[in-house]
This record gives sequence, C-alpha cells and structure tokens, in this order.
Amino acid sequence: MDGDAGRATVRAEGFNGLRRAAASLPAAWYGDPAQHAREMAAIWRKGWVAFARVEALAAPGARLAAPLAGMSVLALRDGAGALQAFHNVCRHRGAELCPEGAGRIAGGRLSCPYHDWTYAEDGRLLATGKARAVEGFDRAAHGLVPLGVAEWGGFVFVNADGGGQGDFEAAHGRDVVPLAPWRPETLAPVHSETIDIDCDWKLFWENFNECLHCPGVHPALSALVPIYGRGIMEREDDPAWRAHGPDAPPALTGRLREGAESWTEDGGAVGPRLPGLSDADAARGQTYAEILPSFLLVGHVDHARAVRVLPLGPGRTRLEATWLAPPDAGIDGAALSVFAKRVMAEDAAACEGNQRGLRAAPFASGVLMQEEYEIAAFHDWIRAQLEG
Ligand code: FES
Ligand SMILES: [Fe+2]
Repeated sequence: MDGDAGRATVRAEGFNGLRRAAASLPAAWYGDPAQHAREMAAIWRKGWVAFARVEALAAPGARLAAPLAGMSVLALRDGAGALQAFHNVCRHRGAELCPEGAGRIAGGRLSCPYHDWTYAEDGRLLATGKARAVEGFDRAAHGLVPLGVAEWGGFVFVNADGGGQGDFEAAHGRDVVPLAPWRPETLAPVHSETIDIDCDWKLFWENFNECLHCPGVHPALSALVPIYGRGIMEREDDPAWRAHGPDAPPALTGRLREGAESWTEDGGAVGPRLPGLSDADAARGQTYAEILPSFLLVGHVDHARAVRVLPLGPGRTRLEATWLAPPDAGIDGAALSVFAKRVMAEDAAACEGNQRGLRAAPFASGVLMQEEYEIAAFHDWIRAQLEG
C-alpha cells in the first residue's frame, strides 16, 4: 500500500517500519452496524470497487445485477459494446429493476417488473407503463441513476461517485504499475473460489498487510517464501537490509526457497514464464498490487491470482479468488489453487479469531509494532476517508 496518507511516523529512515508504536483502530469499529454503515458510505460508495470479471459482461446485451456495499448494482454491455452501470432501482417507486444474477437485455430495453416502467440501455426513462403523464412529472429527470464504470486487468470496477476509464486510471493507475508486466487483461480464469469469513472487511486487509503471523499461521508458505518465516514481508522490512545483496539467501531477499518457482504444492511452475516478465519480476516470486478497498492481484512467474473483497455486513466479508493464466494453456486450475487456497483458509481462521477477540469485552484497542507499518498506513487511510 502506498503510504501517502500516512503519518510521518509510518516509515522509519532507511527501512520499512514504524518508528513508534501506534494505536490500532477502536475495537468498536469492527462489527458495529453504525460504523459499518459509515464505512460503506464514506469509503465503499466513494471510490472504485471491483464488481465482476469482464467475461460476465462480454457480449452486447449482457447484464449482471448484484449487491455491493449496501447498493444494488446493475452493469451491462450495451449494443455499442460500452459498459454501463446503474443503481438497480426503478425510479418510479424504487423496485429492484433486474433480478440478482446474470441475464440478457431484451430488445435493448430494461423493464421494471412492478409497473412496467421501461428504460433504455443508457438509463433514459422511455415509458411509464400504464401510468399516464401527470402535471409535475419530468420524464427526463427519472432515468436510472448511473455509477462510474471502468475496466482493468479483466475486471469491471464501478464507482457510486461517478467517473469513467480516465478517472479510474487517475485514481489507481499507480497502484497497478507493479502488475503491468503480467498483462492481466490477457489472462483468463482457470479456477475460482468464494470464501465467506466472519470478520470485518478491515481485518482482511490488516492481516494481508503484515507477516508477523506467517511463521505460526502459514508453515507451508513460510517454507516456500523464507522471508515470511522471519515475520516480515520484504527485504526492506529488515533494518539491516542494505547489507544483503541480491545474491543473499532467499530469507534475506524475499525470493522463493531455492529450487522453487511458483506458489504451488511442490513449488514447481505450472507453465512457462509469462511473456512480459523481466528476470527481476520472475525472480521476485510474488508481486502485489492493491486497489483499496476491494481488490488485490498477486503475480507469480507463471500465473496470477486476484482477490475481490466484498463486505457482506458488519463483521462478515466475502472473498472471491480467481486464479488467472494464459488462455488455452491447459492448466489444471483446481490443482494450481490448492496451495494458495490453504493459505487463504489459514488467513480466514486467523481473521475470525481476531474478530472474536475484538468483540469480547473489555478489549478497546490494540497496538501496532514496527513491522505493521502497512497497517498503520491503512488505518490512516481509513481515518482520512471517514473524515472526508
Ligand atoms: S416501481 Fe418500477 S415501475 Fe413501479
Ligand atoms: Fe496470512
């Protein structure tokens, strides 16, 4: 995560780390319905959030409706091939316009099942069913309420605050630079998993943003990525990192263990190095990009893995993981997924334990240690978003 919003204390001179212990967010913020509602409004409905894979909206006339951060969202591919997104709510008296799930738009029109108001693919209200025109009603003012929509890396993102592709790039172009060599838009899903976790969405990111838990929670991962076994995420997290050259052992550089190539059960790659990766990209073992609050992408030498984060409610979070590889490469996605799926399950159990403790009286707030600099930056980002 970028530390722009962070305090001066987030990173110490010369290495990644907190210089001083910092208080974590109030325990009451994890699972409290009023706080959850504040976060949905101030964070999730104020920026770009992942909505779907592009395959779900590939063909003109395809539509997809799903709940998202307290909204019902309808995205569609119009007849001209452009993506559109709207609040899936009829402007008459607020009925759900399209049923949840995928479907097709018949004749380029969307009709409300309640009283048959009909909308064009661009959201314009075309007809009001049996309701006659009445004084004081302006049809042009009752089109569907649009959301911003953009595509990146084979995923569709929406923004309740509006905007288009250029706005998405301006907001997140920098976040995704590390994964650009993977050309994720050229990769196809080979496997997907959905995991619901009894934890606040913020706990997912906190856990993702530190590796102090790795030695205890992830024995296999810590063997594959030896630096994780030291409780840190990358080379620069060690105050003495400058003393370790690129040829230092993996535990000091962050590379995979000797002989391993990818995040698989035996450490072997499932395919050739993805075109576009440099030697450094390939050697790194894992490369991360995040689009807060809803999306992360991890690149390995032969495949990538995306995780969409979806808040289901106070203290409840869904993860949708998608393993991505070159199309038609014949990769066994289920076999490929075994390793990272276990890591996800280990993390889910850790997050649920964290959530249970946060709910228990009288715990009020925790403390962030040197290695938890990314969590401090995340907390600063949360506070800044909430303050608007
Ligand atoms: S609520 Fe949709 S037509 Fe009445
Ligand atoms: Fe973890």
